[in-house]
Amino acid sequence: MAYFRAMKRNILIHPDPRLKTVADPVADLSDDLRVLADDMLETMYAAPGIGLAAPQVGVLSRLIVLDCVKEEGAPPRPLAMFNPRVVEASDETSVYEEGCLSIPEIYENVTRPSDVTVEWIDRDGMEQRETFEGLWATCVQHEIDHLDGKLFIDYLRPLKRQMITRKMQKLKREMAREKA
Ligand code: NI
Repeated sequence: MAYFRAMKRNILIHPDPRLKTVADPVADLSDDLRVLADDMLETMYAAPGIGLAAPQVGVLSRLIVLDCVKEEGAPPRPLAMFNPRVVEASDETSVYEEGCLSIPEIYENVTRPSDVTVEWIDRDGMEQRETFEGLWATCVQHEIDHLDGKLFIDYLRPLKRQMITRKMQKLKREMAREKA
């Protein structure tokens, strides 16, 4: 068995049309997609972050990765989900202060169902189903939203969203200047 060194990928910053696009279902689990999943995990851990969706690295396929283990010393739990979908959601809701690697340094409260049951295809092509709660539930919903072109700031009031978008446009101009 060959081991590949995962490669960090560039994370797109909002606003970007690719972050507003509905991603395509994965039909065949190719090696390219498995490499992409490994690269995304590498990119997520390096950021550091707890979740990342393929559109955030410019690939419009329905793939997300996450690892919400927070306890110090606990073993990591890297999950790669192809074609993930929420099949059940609790009526009970939770509020979390969310952030996003595509919207750096912005954190806002978002209300979502507290528990969700998700079905997905894992990297071995096996169907999986699990119920998530707490931070895991919030994170998996946030990442699946990315696959539908939806960002956490879309849950905020329009004025707030516009303010954040302007801030990000400014940040992108500064980043472009630094690169030049
Ligand atoms: Ni995000």
